[in-house]
Amino acid sequence: MSLNIVILAAGQGKRMVSACPKVLHPLAGKPLLQHVLETARLLRPARLAVVYGHGGDAVRQAFPDADILWALQAEQLGTGHALEQALPLLDAALPTLVLYGDVPLVEKATLERLLRQSGAGMGLLTVNLDRPQGYGRVVRDAQGQVRGIVEEKDASDAERAITEINTGILLLPKDVLGEWLARLDNENAQGEYYLTDMVARAAYDGVSIHTAQPAAAWEVEGVNDKRQLAALERVCQRQLAEKLLLQGVRLADPARIDIRGHLVCGREVSIDVGCVFDGEVRLEDGAEVGPYCVIRNARVAVGARLAAFTHIDGASVGANSVVGPYARLRPGTELAAGAHVGNFVEIKNSRIGPDSKANHLTYIGDAEIGARVNVGAGVITCNYDGASKFITRIEDDAFIGSGSQLVAPVRVGKGATVGAGATLTRDAPADALTVARARQKVIAGWKRPVKKLAK
Ligand code: UD1
Ligand code: CA
Repeated sequence: MSLNIVILAAGQGKRMVSACPKVLHPLAGKPLLQHVLETARLLRPARLAVVYGHGGDAVRQAFPDADILWALQAEQLGTGHALEQALPLLDAALPTLVLYGDVPLVEKATLERLLRQSGAGMGLLTVNLDRPQGYGRVVRDAQGQVRGIVEEKDASDAERAITEINTGILLLPKDVLGEWLARLDNENAQGEYYLTDMVARAAYDGVSIHTAQPAAAWEVEGVNDKRQLAALERVCQRQLAEKLLLQGVRLADPARIDIRGHLVCGREVSIDVGCVFDGEVRLEDGAEVGPYCVIRNARVAVGARLAAFTHIDGASVGANSVVGPYARLRPGTELAAGAHVGNFVEIKNSRIGPDSKANHLTYIGDAEIGARVNVGAGVITCNYDGASKFITRIEDDAFIGSGSQLVAPVRVGKGATVGAGATLTRDAPADALTVARARQKVIAGWKRPVKKLAK
């Protein structure tokens, strides 16, 4: 669109009580500023500028994207002064839309409506609030025409009673920006250059001023402290949950799911309460996620079932596999179709073949496991000697007895059986029984020691 967009993000955010610059605080797993940038890009602006200041380098580094023009506001002298810093980066012949780095959830449709309704004039996004405290109020004349915006600290009692507030989101007509900015002063209660003074300027110059409202008030809610951040997090999660429900995903409770990234679901997917999804997660048709699972960067294939308290990070779960409860799949784990991974089983950087099972209390690291393998309870791959990692190979149809340790590098051949309690330090050949434990001894007639009683 033939439009400049400027995002103001130089404020300190003192009330966040955090060393992290405000616009980098995450909302649904993404920095606040990222939300605004994504919405801004949907409008295809000719120029996209961000005014930064506090935590400057960290903010710039977090967004290496080539389409962003950066304007430094070294001292925070007000919103008007902030916009002035971006002026050299803008195309004067285009209108300019001002957004806020700490107002993350404004929707594309709302901004489009503001643009449409404003035409070649000025556009103000306003909203009526029962409790307008803290916001600039929209002052209208007897005909209902906007005359200006008065900041709360500068407002009379009558003006404070106005419930229509300035969201801060503003469309400025083309050609006037430089002149209007040059004429701002800081003669007000806060000693700041107020961007909002441009509204009175427009009224004075006879420029038409149009207002539009967001579809929902949360779209224009700002983040000034952690309470507001937490409240918007809930709004965001609710939105994401609604989308999933409309797609046909079954959620046990839409108020108890957290998506901190991108969750893609197939058909007939169901998700129980308390699950957290992080990064890129794909749940294919018929996948079932039990309660309190934490799933990050993962693919869960068709018909797979994750039981309660399963943790998955950087792994893929094959079709119709059954995982958990209390299983942990770490990066580089690939389960083939029909695998079973039970409680207190940890798997890292390993491939588990089709229909293989590791059902209880096991650690599998750096292993290649074939098809239909049975890994008994308490089996451990000893993959690390304190310096290097080694690989364990278990071929198709092998059976590893409970409580065995496989000291890598080691191979268990096809169809081999390893007796329970083995400490394998050499390969176990195919189709044979390998026993690697001390022989059981019986001492008949042995007497237990008896405690001597004190006299
Ligand atoms: C501003 C508006 C007010 C509106 C409110 C909506 C002005 C004068 N007032 O007030 O009418 O109701 O937003 O939330 O504009 N910023 C900078 N540099 C600065 C000052 C601010 O980049 O020197 C950025 C902040 O990072 C923030 C935004 O501008 O993203 C708004 O600043 P803030 O100080 O929060 O404005 P308010 O006083 O709340
Ligand atoms: Ca302020």
